[in-house]
Amino acid sequence: MSALFEPYKLKDISLRNRIAIPPMCQYAAVDGLINDWHRVHLAGLARGGAGLVIVEATAVSPEGRITPGCTGIWNDEQAQAFAPVVTSIKAAGAVPGIQIGHAGRKASVNRPWEGDDHIADDDTRGWQTIAPSAVAFGAHLPKVPNAMTTDDIARVRDDFVAAARRARYAGFEWLELHFAHGYLGQSFFSTHSNHRDDAYGGSLANRSRFLLETLAAVRKVWPEHLPLTARFGVIEYDGRDEQTLAESIELAKNFKQEGLDMLSVSIGFSTPAARIPWAPAFLAPVAQRVRREAQLPVSSAWGLDTPELADRSIRESQLDLVMVGRAHLADPHWPYYAARKLGVERPSWTLPAPYAHWLEHYTVN
Ligand SMILES: Cc1cc2nc3c(=O)[nH]c(=O)nc-3n(C[C@H](O)[C@H](O)[C@H](O)COP(=O)(O)O)c2cc1C
Repeated sequence: MSALFEPYKLKDISLRNRIAIPPMCQYAAVDGLINDWHRVHLAGLARGGAGLVIVEATAVSPEGRITPGCTGIWNDEQAQAFAPVVTSIKAAGAVPGIQIGHAGRKASVNRPWEGDDHIADDDTRGWQTIAPSAVAFGAHLPKVPNAMTTDDIARVRDDFVAAARRARYAGFEWLELHFAHGYLGQSFFSTHSNHRDDAYGGSLANRSRFLLETLAAVRKVWPEHLPLTARFGVIEYDGRDEQTLAESIELAKNFKQEGLDMLSVSIGFSTPAARIPWAPAFLAPVAQRVRREAQLPVSSAWGLDTPELADRSIRESQLDLVMVGRAHLADPHWPYYAARKLGVERPSWTLPAPYAHWLEHYTVN
């Protein structure tokens, strides 16, 4: 039996295997509202056989969107629109998850295929960004954010809480807080972006405060029996990696104390000066260290789409769940491909019955 196809249980939620589809922005929403594109896209992914499907980074407030096309969950209409998506993901046998987030100083950006850069100041599609400090990311994101007041911090924390309530109302069973990739949560943690001298900046405890307070507040409204996870960049590849990792592991331990059930181990993306050593499965050993030292279940992504590597990361206890992103865009039935590669018995049964029956005795080339 392949380790990748073993079931997994976290809190009261059981996944049919260890394959998860990470959040992937589609930049196709209007005013944060999802439409047919998202419905078809997400149902198609769930039908492919993964255990968990996490809906893209969904903004807790309008200014928290990355681009004008990003999804939102700051009002009830948006939450209601997710309900049929939840139903179709579940009907396909996967667990429906959602990532909620705020893009901070990396908000107000053009879609990737329209430049991926900050929307020009004189373009009415854009908006004023906010962040811990009035420091721009730089490079293609030069916009200087407004430094958040403590009232702003409390408001955004409350926006996360309201978004979590709405996500539950829509029926989601797995909630991920987006604290990674240089967006607002990550930017409080990183000294690249946080130059504050109040209770939210400076020491590790202060730089962790926004993340821990937000997690604690969300945990109060998100049901105890359902998984609450966070995505966080534990490493920046900026030449200070040992220190960042040590601090991140400390944060992960504190996350656990506040009730986090799993950490999705990712990259900080807090500075354009980072030099990331892209290679297949390069982040898995880092995730394993976090898993071991923080004693917290972990998932991770980035180049884990070779079935043998994905399987090994589970078998060798590097990860609890493997996130496979872009490979699912290329082939929504990636789990079927992986099952065949790994010699899983009757691999067609990773597919829904209307497909599986026809492929049981037919080999697709
Ligand atoms: C189109 C696209 C959109 C993405 N959007 C998000 C997102 O909303 N939230 C997030 O945390 N990561 C996002 N990512 C990163 C993916 O979740 C994942 O980490 C990345 O694709 C690496 O995994 P892979 O090598 O299996 O593709 C996105 C990636 C892609 C390709």
